[in-house]
Amino acid sequence: MRRIQIFDTTLRDGEQSPGCSMNIHEKLEMARQLERLGVDVIEAGFPIASPEDFESVQTIAREITGCRVAGLCRAVKGDVDCAWQALKDHPNPVLHIFLATSDIHLESKLHLTREEALEKVREMVAYAKSMCADVEFSAEDASRSDRDYLVQVFDAAQEAGASVLNIPDTVGYATPGEMEELVRYVKTHLKHPDQVILSVHCHNDLGMGVANSLAGMLGGAGQIECTVNGIGERAGNAALEEIVMAIKTRASAYQVQTGIDTRQIYRTSKLLSTVTGVPVPPNKAIVGANAFAHESGIHQHGIINNRLTYEIMSPESVGIYQSRIVLGKHSGRHAFEERLEQLGYRIPDSVLEQSFEKFKVLADHKKVVTDRDIEALVSSNHYQIPETYKLESFVVNSGTVISATAVVKLVKDGESKEHVARGEGPIDAAFKAIDRIVKQNFPLKNYSIQSVTEGEDALGEVVVKILREEETIVGRGLSTDIIEASIKAYLNAINKAIL
Ligand code: KIV
Ligand code: ZN
Repeated sequence: MRRIQIFDTTLRDGEQSPGCSMNIHEKLEMARQLERLGVDVIEAGFPIASPEDFESVQTIAREITGCRVAGLCRAVKGDVDCAWQALKDHPNPVLHIFLATSDIHLESKLHLTREEALEKVREMVAYAKSMCADVEFSAEDASRSDRDYLVQVFDAAQEAGASVLNIPDTVGYATPGEMEELVRYVKTHLKHPDQVILSVHCHNDLGMGVANSLAGMLGGAGQIECTVNGIGERAGNAALEEIVMAIKTRASAYQVQTGIDTRQIYRTSKLLSTVTGVPVPPNKAIVGANAFAHESGIHQHGIINNRLTYEIMSPESVGIYQSRIVLGKHSGRHAFEERLEQLGYRIPDSVLEQSFEKFKVLADHKKVVTDRDIEALVSSNHYQIPETYKLESFVVNSGTVISATAVVKLVKDGESKEHVARGEGPIDAAFKAIDRIVKQNFPLKNYSIQSVTEGEDALGEVVVKILREEETIVGRGLSTDIIEASIKAYLNAINKAIL
């Protein structure tokens, strides 16, 4: 079967979208998970965009060796130099150069004639090739470009040394039929189609990103560019998990395969959502909470008799495991460790220790600790940031006839500090008390709460986003008590902000 390369751009096109920014530690953690997932290429960032982007790409290029690492650059010498500096320590780096080819972009954005753009592509791809063996060229807005001009640019890029030619549907305008046709057209009109890999990169403005990517693949693309959970500019990019599972589940229709370890899909999705604080919608294909839930009686009956009645793929195939063993307050460390292993977690001893301690506290409050609870516990431990401020205790008072007050006691360097504050409600009061102890005020940008599982004793998971100057910092907190979860989330964000 033909092998399709998966080019993941979660850390570049995905990270660019509102609310999805990540710091360098989070990007590295995500890159490690993408490596476990088995993507062929990680596009780690746009090095010229900022010193932080440069550092993230460089760190990922130095740390991740299990897949190729790409950095984006415009067709500008300074961008290429910068991207190369960030990537050069990787054994198989990819310089990814882009330039728009549609008349609307050339005229209204770049103020270039077609000839000038063609020359730039020639020059910059050749320049990149003089440093890096693997150069990808993307014709931005390819789907709205004149086809013959597009082919002319691609021929020039290939002659200058590009080994991958990417055909983006930058504004999510194409239909699947058009995308398949476009890729086929490029393939049949290139001078040397067999010596280059064609790639597709589809945005989701009309909800057709995945369909267009698969159609492009049918037209002859050997690489698909996509993001985890479909995050990305505007309505996002084509979702990696949907593409990969469509290819796997409908292998008989597509006759292709990827190198993805699909059992890592759920964890990768969860990690991204943990890191960015952007929740996955419950009805999201493959990774949403309801993707494998069967509510109606008729469906449940069918599933009990034979799972294939209503399940076209198993939850286990994407790394969602339903345990038959129930963990509770009498479960020991061994059972906890075994469960983690079954769920696919391989975590360092220090994190394991902390997760087990949290599990014991949770098991004291909750009759049954589910797999979802365990996942939430472990992901809350992902970033071992120093707990400069730690919650010691709190008391809140609120009601319809009194104004809410909170007394919060935190520990810093072994010393307890306590403050009281009044607020619009118990959470606002608690956050204000914390601000007084910390003596800083990071504006609260977003607050959300959801329960990890059902039931009265469910774990509540709070995500807060605070602002440190222009940067958004995400904090998470877990507890069966929602005020405690809120305080922990706020402290988690503050501890990150003052690192
Ligand atoms: O959508 C797009 O055209 C891009 C290119 C930079 C590949 O993201
Ligand atoms: Zn894009």
